[in-house]
Amino acid sequence: MNTPGPDLDLVPKPSAVRVKGGVLRLSGPPAAESGPFAAECGVFEEQIRGCFHGGVLSPQGTNAEGGARLRCVHDGALAEEAYRLNIEDGLVTVAASSGSGAYHGLQTLRQLILSGEEKRLRSGGDVAEIPRAEIEDAPRFPWRGFMLDCSRHFFSAAFIRKIIDALSLHHINRFHWHLTDDQGWRFPVPGYPLLAETGSRRKDLRSGRSEGGFYTVQEIRDIVRFASLRHVEIVPEADLPGHTLSVLASYPALGCTGGPYEVEDRFGIFEDVLCAGNDGIFDFAAAVFGALADLFPSRRVHIGGDEVLFNRWEACPKCRKRLAETGLSSPRELQSWITSRLAAMLAERGKIPIGWDEILEDSPRFPLPEEAVIMSWRGREGGLEAARRGRRVIMSPNTEGCYLDYKHSEDPGEPGQLGISSLKAIYGMNPAGGMDGKEADLILGGQGNLWTELVYAGRIAEYMIFPRISALAEALWNPGGPAGFEDFTRRLSAHRARLDALDLLYYRGT
Ligand code: ACM
Ligand code: ZN
Repeated sequence: MNTPGPDLDLVPKPSAVRVKGGVLRLSGPPAAESGPFAAECGVFEEQIRGCFHGGVLSPQGTNAEGGARLRCVHDGALAEEAYRLNIEDGLVTVAASSGSGAYHGLQTLRQLILSGEEKRLRSGGDVAEIPRAEIEDAPRFPWRGFMLDCSRHFFSAAFIRKIIDALSLHHINRFHWHLTDDQGWRFPVPGYPLLAETGSRRKDLRSGRSEGGFYTVQEIRDIVRFASLRHVEIVPEADLPGHTLSVLASYPALGCTGGPYEVEDRFGIFEDVLCAGNDGIFDFAAAVFGALADLFPSRRVHIGGDEVLFNRWEACPKCRKRLAETGLSSPRELQSWITSRLAAMLAERGKIPIGWDEILEDSPRFPLPEEAVIMSWRGREGGLEAARRGRRVIMSPNTEGCYLDYKHSEDPGEPGQLGISSLKAIYGMNPAGGMDGKEADLILGGQGNLWTELVYAGRIAEYMIFPRISALAEALWNPGGPAGFEDFTRRLSAHRARLDALDLLYYRGT
């Protein structure tokens, strides 16, 4: 742990590292020269200022020795997201063709500085030292994602920012924000004020207390800006037409029975879903998509589509009428009719739908739109089928470690539910495994998902996320494939100190 390996213990491991010998001495953030990527340098300086401890900073908080400078250069030959980092005596140079490349380079530098400062604190040195080295790096997959369920439990805006910042240290570039579910609706939709008043709170059946929360427009805008400065795209999810008891409790007319409904306090899959025979659900969806388009610049909107039960549709006269009108033969096919309508509404707004793999179960009359992206969660079969059918895919199989609500290990002392997602399993998740050629090209990447039925505090969320997301980041980043689990766990011991420096809780086993 004291002596970094030839790869400098970086996570994810870069494509190429050349250690040159000697060190760069730093007593504070290196002073950025004027030039390209000023916004990225500004964020980096803020991040780095927080990682220097006790007494070595000059009053201005710049490098007390006045020596170390940070230079960013534009290099159009580098691919999007790629970077070159050169650390010399007194000068760090980051080359990139885009802001995202520069940001990734600066996060690698941040990892080295966190380690240098940690070593200084341990050894009592005057200044942090980081090795002189040259690093070349580029990602393997464009989609390196993490999902947080903020419905089953609500997490503060400050916590969301903390997690996004820590994800970006690992070059994770998508934050899938699960904002709605049976247990709470979390964002404002103009024209539907009861989503905030009623839909955002549930009664805890044990304590009788009201639980919940709601993000304001300003909080969401601040988070989107915070993430975009870190080159993390926020992809919002409004889960439709199932997992909608928070909607039905607010607007009972949107359900088949008319209610009454309550925002659910139990966890599971519930039979009350939006009524397929009620045109009002599309007025509602239009308002939801309008709100999302206003709040989130991402071209993608996750429309959910998972775990819809069909028994209400079977019994409902309005749904049966709809079935006759659409020429479909079974209530379950109504979901594909809804999906195609939602996709068309998104297309009108210039947006692309993402859905859980259930939306693949379409009907010939309403085939899944070409542009829809499949998030494969019940294993990788959905993703394989989607790619065979020419659809783009994000792999997030609960069978391969990507479900971060599962326990880290079989140890009964570990928190978690449903299964085990070991660090080794998620490290070994290969999104394009079992595919080649055209199908492999349709694999955008992968994602880790944290469902929060049992995660009632940010601290527990951190413990479930880290370091599994660090392992996934490496699986999705390294162009030549991940370096091997043993190699990863060796670097992980140094990386844990970086997670400590960011005040993150994490699982200590492997
Ligand atoms: C899911 O885990 N229900 C997508
Ligand atoms: Zn109905």
